[in-house]
Amino acid sequence: MKVIYTKNYEELSKKACELVVEQINEKKNSVLGLATGSTPLGLYEELIKEHEKGLDFSEIVTYNLDEYIGLSKDNDQSYNYFMNEHLFKHVNINMNNINIPSGTNEPEEEIVDYENKLRKIGGVDLQILGLGSNGHIAFNEPSEELNAKTSIVNLTESTIKANSRFFEKESDVPTKAISMGMGTIFTAKKIIILISGKNKEEATEYLLNSNKISTNWPVSLLQLHQDTTVIIDESSVEVK
Ligand code: F6R
Repeated sequence: MKVIYTKNYEELSKKACELVVEQINEKKNSVLGLATGSTPLGLYEELIKEHEKGLDFSEIVTYNLDEYIGLSKDNDQSYNYFMNEHLFKHVNINMNNINIPSGTNEPEEEIVDYENKLRKIGGVDLQILGLGSNGHIAFNEPSEELNAKTSIVNLTESTIKANSRFFEKESDVPTKAISMGMGTIFTAKKIIILISGKNKEEATEYLLNSNKISTNWPVSLLQLHQDTTVIIDESSVEVK
């Protein structure tokens, strides 16, 4: 695992952008795995700037990690809406190449379809991840047992609380989501995890300490992946 420390969020976003651009320059039809949440917003802004300077997204294919069950694509809290607002509508991506789980299709069918579609194309080339303060990646929440495949998940209290900042009130946060599983994420040839924000020290410790692999801190399993880069914003995450 490669670990890069940056002095602030802006530097983290620029570094992540540099690595994504490198991937696109190497393979113009790369399959990118994308995340939502606050952390990748700076990366998406940087990618939009690169597009304005000529970076071509026309052959790029994207797969997002997750979506809330019950929210339609045009609901402004859905991850479909988020991705469109913060990235897709600003670049020349082919809308048919965008894949995000649907929050309104029959969930049992949706998880099988999404998993199969992703496995069929051979998985993601470069996966971007954020980190939950409880150690989740995508919506793989801390537990004795984790899902290997794309699944329907119950969000934990702490995730509902953390995500309520985007909603009017906590009771508006959906309690279930569709999430890529740990095995699905591990099919990515390369992974970049971006760490910035409050209360992420303990989860980061589980990622960086090789004696601390535990399903109760799902992020720690990334230590077993063959090509993961960790980018840490030192201004918000104090690493021991
Ligand atoms: C989002 C996702 C989540 C977030 C995580 C961190 O698609 O899968 O795992 O990456 O909750 O969120 P932020 O970046 O808002 O701290």
